[in-house]
Amino acid sequence: MNKTNPLPTITVIGSGYVGVTSAAIFANAGYQVYALEINPKRLAAIKAGRSFFYEDYLNPLLEEAVKSGRLIATDSYKEAIPYSDIVFSCVGTPDNPDGSSNLSYIYAAASETAIHAKSGLVYAQKSTVPVGTGAKVEEIFHDADAKISYVSNPEFLREGTALLDSLWFDRVVVGGADPLATKAIIDVYQHVSDLRSTIAQVADMTPGNTVVSDPEYIATSRNSAELIKVSANAFLALKISFANSIAKLADAAGADVVEVMDGIGADARIGRSFLNAGRGYGGGCFPKDVSGLISSGLQHGIDLGIMQAASAENHAMPGYILEKAMNHIEGESFAGKKVAFLGIAFKAGTSDVRKSPAIKMVNLLSEKMEANVHAYDPQALTEEDARGQLHGDVVVAPDMNSALRDADMVIIATDWNEFKEFPLETYATLLNGTILVDAMNCLDPTAVRDAGLTYVGVGR
Ligand code: UGA
Repeated sequence: MNKTNPLPTITVIGSGYVGVTSAAIFANAGYQVYALEINPKRLAAIKAGRSFFYEDYLNPLLEEAVKSGRLIATDSYKEAIPYSDIVFSCVGTPDNPDGSSNLSYIYAAASETAIHAKSGLVYAQKSTVPVGTGAKVEEIFHDADAKISYVSNPEFLREGTALLDSLWFDRVVVGGADPLATKAIIDVYQHVSDLRSTIAQVADMTPGNTVVSDPEYIATSRNSAELIKVSANAFLALKISFANSIAKLADAAGADVVEVMDGIGADARIGRSFLNAGRGYGGGCFPKDVSGLISSGLQHGIDLGIMQAASAENHAMPGYILEKAMNHIEGESFAGKKVAFLGIAFKAGTSDVRKSPAIKMVNLLSEKMEANVHAYDPQALTEEDARGQLHGDVVVAPDMNSALRDADMVIIATDWNEFKEFPLETYATLLNGTILVDAMNCLDPTAVRDAGLTYVGVGR
């Protein structure tokens, strides 16, 4: 808290998806916010009022936050922590080769904070960490001069809808032993919730009518909060892999997995969401959290075979879909065929390609199946990093039309609106062949067939 602002001063450590979004929202809710970022490229982007990744509505909020002076980006703990009442740790937790989480950034952020903190600081861990991590961070704080209260405050926002999820959140989970610290964190979210319409206006965002108006605030123990986060992601991954397993059976038995999941999802106990069969899950969270949970289980002597199965199912989907597509090609070979490959991002609405199943498909096609792949994505391929993950023979198409022109087949691997809304007749006109592979089950098979194309979906 400072003299001119009655609200607590906040530092957000780490400017990835969660950190940048949180910092932008807190600053627009009136908090004085420091964004602590050690990566020079990311730091420069925030200072310029923009994010280093594509996310709808985020840049106007960042721009406003920086312009107003309420968001100050720095790479120095000394410039931020001593003035802060609350710290949100949003640093990365990449996975180790054995599937466990690399927690070096978690401990480094805590250790640096411990050096500079003033007494009474509340330290909220938003990064996804294995259960038991908070206990180790608390040991670091135990040795600090200042009294620091630790809470686990897992993040549930999704990339592509980060602003919507952060303003119209359905729940806030805060786990820790100090009730005052828990209250301090809940107060921040309640304040954001009170101002969400005003903040949305700055972002020029209309929330639609599917939003939650009455969020739940859930106070738990520290370990429970940690486990809630990874288990939530693991359960969603499980739903997807379940849908994909049934999709294979539907293919074999002549059923339509979309109809099946609609029927199952109508049961309120199950719900329809995250039962969309397709090329599987990717991104910075599900693959990592599934392997992290398996690894946590092993450390505690618990065999989470159910998650091993979900992961194996997920790994198999790209190959399964390509095999299915191959059966529709004359001569049953991709060799020398031009394939228009639409969608590289791990999901629509983001430029993120981390662990994207689409990349796995492209590379299988180009390298193993010797197809002549022309890939296009509205956002993901602008970055050198993303292009660098593609097999050397893949051609990056500047637009959809040039990818499609004279191709023998089109594969839709990310359900961007641009692909869903593209006229089916134009697909048919531009293509040389007739096969449309819908690896996201995002088109209407009848409409595709009516346009003169052969529809190949997943489990339908
Ligand atoms: C996920 C969770 O949904 C968030 O609640 C969580 O906060 C976040 O991880 C995180 O831990 O930070 P995110 O990875 O952004 O969010 O994306 P999702 O929308 O969950 O999608 C993950 C993957 O599953 C995507 O590749 C998507 O295409 C795939 N998916 C999703 C399916 O294949 N089928 C579905 O029915 C749903």
